[in-house]
Amino acid sequence: MAALRQLLRLTKCKVQITPCHTHQFRCLSGFVNLPETHQMLKKTCRDFANNELVPIAGKLDKEHIYPRKQVQKLGELGLLCVDVPEKEGGTGLDYLAYAIAMEEISRGCASMGVIMSVNNSLYLGPIQKYATQQQKEKFLKPFLHGDKIGCFALSEPGNGSDAGAASTTARLVGDSWVLNGTKAWITNGYESEAAVVFATTDKKAKHKGISAFLVPKPTEGLSLGKKEDKLGIRASSTCNLIFEDCRIPKENLLGELGMGFKIAMQTLDSGRIGIASQALGIAQAAFECAIDYAQKRIAFDQPISKLQAIQMKLADMEVRIESARLLTWKAAMLKDAGKPFTKEAAMAKLTASEAATFVSHQAIQILGGMGYVSDMPAERHYRDARITEIYEGTSEIQKLVIAGNLLKQYALS
Ligand code: CAA
Repeated sequence: MAALRQLLRLTKCKVQITPCHTHQFRCLSGFVNLPETHQMLKKTCRDFANNELVPIAGKLDKEHIYPRKQVQKLGELGLLCVDVPEKEGGTGLDYLAYAIAMEEISRGCASMGVIMSVNNSLYLGPIQKYATQQQKEKFLKPFLHGDKIGCFALSEPGNGSDAGAASTTARLVGDSWVLNGTKAWITNGYESEAAVVFATTDKKAKHKGISAFLVPKPTEGLSLGKKEDKLGIRASSTCNLIFEDCRIPKENLLGELGMGFKIAMQTLDSGRIGIASQALGIAQAAFECAIDYAQKRIAFDQPISKLQAIQMKLADMEVRIESARLLTWKAAMLKDAGKPFTKEAAMAKLTASEAATFVSHQAIQILGGMGYVSDMPAERHYRDARITEIYEGTSEIQKLVIAGNLLKQYALS
């Protein structure tokens, strides 16, 4: 672990040299390897996942155990604040590095992947960009290295995809904002010690009336709903946040009044790169499980990997994974280069989440009965994959985002 920290410190300077991104991108398009620093990061995260996560992921899932000790270790390694600049106390790597780390950690344990992604991109992301120095002291610094983790509260019981229809309200009363309403599907809801919360300050203004707030947890007037009993990612907690006359200081407004919807959309653009990477990690784990089994399982007097029916499946699985990976890395590198990446992040998330579902489905098919029981991890990968097509925008929403951007790009003059 100390070695990884050292590695991150050593590699950080190289990664931050932005002019080489164009070169990296050309390399990747030409199927040349990742830059050396990213390869080292990938290997180190893989070793951590193999040693610390793979052996316990099944138990965590079965017993719904939040991996507190491992989250702490991730924090110590610098993986809970991957792209937060070093001058702010973060690891100071780029988004490509974050995508790679996310994939490797999720390959070891998808629940850990979502815990990591919410802290990095949904919680620290908007704070890094919009918080004042004073807000950062309280809401950023303690959340960098695993001492505390954060969450992001946008969806509501009545609106998930239609994020602009937020009905949770925030009213300014004296020197406080008073929040009322319920936020739903909040990852890290139970363990987090602060939330970025979106609420409307002016209902008539629709999405332009939404603002973002920093809410410490616990706070009087904020309670938690029941822990959701989910199909997958069962080691991470998901619950409602219920606000009943919950008072927070006036200075906890994040960014400007009415800017919340834009902050949420920008945050999700980056978040979708994280979820695409999580989906890749799940797909990769399912693929490895299947190819290993196919070479060991004997049927018709030979390993089933010799059967063309199995080979077709393995080929289809690998093509989907590799295509999704290239899209994901492209989106990350566009972000790193300061270029627009909304469409590419949506394409990456759409493709990678569908790849995860496809690959984990095929993995069960290759394992047959052994894929259907929890003695093997294939059924867990299948359950974990499914959420990646839903959270941070369903596949249908990703298509709307892609089409919307295409129509702007190709608008008739
Ligand atoms: N970046 C910056 N601004 C953006 C933007 C982006 N990516 N996308 C839209 N906007 C701006 C637009 O420019 C527009 O601005 P103006 O009003 O100034 O013109 C404004 O936002 C409204 O844009 P749209 O008309 O396109 O908005 P819409 O209401 O039609 O919604 C949507 C668009 C794509 C459907 C959006 O609501 C959306 O992404 N929905 C899905 C929400 C989502 O992903 N939720 C997941 C919750 S988080 C989660 O999953 C929790 C977890 O714990 C993992």
